[in-house]
Amino acid sequence: MNIAIGSDHAALEAKTEIAKFLKLAGHTVVDEGTYTSESTDYPDYAAQVSRALQKGSVDRGILICGTGIGMSIAANRFSGVRAALCFTKDLAILSREHNDANVLCLGARTQSIESMKHIIEPWLVTEWEGDRHARRLQKIESNPGGQHAD
Ligand code: RB5
Repeated sequence: MNIAIGSDHAALEAKTEIAKFLKLAGHTVVDEGTYTSESTDYPDYAAQVSRALQKGSVDRGILICGTGIGMSIAANRFSGVRAALCFTKDLAILSREHNDANVLCLGARTQSIESMKHIIEPWLVTEWEGDRHARRLQKIESNPGGQHAD
């Protein structure tokens, strides 16, 4: 699989370790930064990874910041991106089966690197179930302006 990975300064070490882990597992990793420990802004890396997905140059994205919250908020502003912040293996599996999540968000200040690996492994191999979930994703995708009836 081709996977784009991005982090801010808070997750630089985690990103480096996770990129190694993915390469060892046989994946092609596109590292979208950050590349130094200098303080930086997570939306910039969420945008890089999201645009790579939109272009189709990668199959999936992984975004790591301090909590994973900022990355998930930022990535979900991009059409076609379904970013899920997961802190358990079960959530990671459900984010694939039900939500067809194409970006996994993780928190370097809330999860160990080992626990990230346990979450990433099933997330990469779990298939989307489609069926009733397709209708729901279609509703999300066809309502990018967020104009919901009350
Ligand atoms: C950076 O200090 C921190 O705010 C960021 O990594 C992230 O946790 C935001 O959601």
